[in-house]
Amino acid sequence: MKVTMIGSGYVGLVSGACFADFGHDVVCVDKDAAKIAALEAGRIPIFEPGLDQLVASNVAAGRLSFTTDIAAGVSGADAVFIAVGTPSRRGDGHADLSYVYAAAVEIAQAITGFTVIVDKSTVPVGTGDEVERIVREANPDADFAVVSNPEFLREGAAIDDFKRPDRIVIGGDDPRALEVMRQVYRPLYLNRSPIVEMSRRGAELTKYAANAFLAVKITFINEIADLCEKAGADVQEVARGIGLDNRIGAKFLHAGPGYGGSCFPKDTLALLKTSQDYDAPQRIVEAVVAVNDNRKRAMGRKVIAAMGGDVRGKTVAVLGLTFKPNTDDMRDSPAISVIQTLQDAGATVRAYDPEGMEQAKRVLSEVDYCGNAYETMEGADALVIVTEWDAFRALDLERVKGLLSQPILVDLRNIYPRDMVEAAGFAYTGVGR
Ligand code: UDX
Repeated sequence: MKVTMIGSGYVGLVSGACFADFGHDVVCVDKDAAKIAALEAGRIPIFEPGLDQLVASNVAAGRLSFTTDIAAGVSGADAVFIAVGTPSRRGDGHADLSYVYAAAVEIAQAITGFTVIVDKSTVPVGTGDEVERIVREANPDADFAVVSNPEFLREGAAIDDFKRPDRIVIGGDDPRALEVMRQVYRPLYLNRSPIVEMSRRGAELTKYAANAFLAVKITFINEIADLCEKAGADVQEVARGIGLDNRIGAKFLHAGPGYGGSCFPKDTLALLKTSQDYDAPQRIVEAVVAVNDNRKRAMGRKVIAAMGGDVRGKTVAVLGLTFKPNTDDMRDSPAISVIQTLQDAGATVRAYDPEGMEQAKRVLSEVDYCGNAYETMEGADALVIVTEWDAFRALDLERVKGLLSQPILVDLRNIYPRDMVEAAGFAYTGVGR
């Protein structure tokens, strides 16, 4: 199969490299000439474990290439995946579909022979119909079908998620297109990964419903955590107690500073817009968005309370800036609100993150960025863990105590047992315990 990815960002690059690894002939296209030049030179523009080797080995095997020339990439392709960004539109929260529609026009003009146009970008229900209309209008002779195939990759675990998916969703009803999709995903059909074929609209909505449900789950346990804190219970015990019920499931029940990242915040907002358009209110998701927004600043206030209520002139050491570990992504990271709340209250912030420092510098100013975890603590009045990188799980607490001017640890990810930290002489604050 010849497979083309339009958009060589996170989703396009990971998916393209994995399809090449399946044995397909893959071209990744991007308008950004600097990005394509970097990829051709073997430099991967994002941090994703394992991606550099996967790209290198498939380039070396002649199965993966990069180009800025969309026509060359699309010509002769069996399947063309649209994997461009759909950011929140400034002002109204709707998904901005301009990149998707622009890609549709360019694909239409370059199609040769029967081509499946696969929408992998996260797009509101009905977008497939519009892409179909646009392609037909731009090239009335084109022989094509439009399919929806949402991605469920988690940053930091994307290659594994691609190769060992919980499920693959394919939305469309054209038999020729479905046959091409079965060939494209053949290794996963053969190893009996669950593949769900459904209507195109169903597939489009599945993506939003999945992300919204996960956001609900996180926000639910976060609110239960607040109740545990006040009622004298431990949310980790409660999460385990409910998670062992198969109907609930143990995953995504870690209380913390609120969800962030490139998907949940944007997709929940876009789902609310769609629900308004169709007059089918999603009140649970509305509440989740509001609760999660409030939570991030509330976590800053939690730190201030742990430091005695007044942080003017004090210094706070923050470990972990990215929205979760194993990524350099700062988008909607809770660390941004936590740090800004501390700064607004008059504190100085020192910070360290294993991969996110460059991205953090673009969004957080007046932070003293440090070279490692221990350097961050030197002379600080409290230590706050915002993101649960493995490197922060086994800190030498004696050394930490020696570096801090006061032994205060605020653990917003509950990675330390309270009794151990208290036995080491710290005042400990977790989430919901
Ligand atoms: C998510 C979805 O998981 C993925 O299927 C979809 O394709 C894209 O969006 P991602 O944004 O990479 O993936 O991160 P994820 O691991 O889902 O975490 C999202 C946020 O929720 C992070 O801020 C994380 O810290 C938070 N989270 C997650 C919790 O606070 N508690 C949990 O129990 C789980």
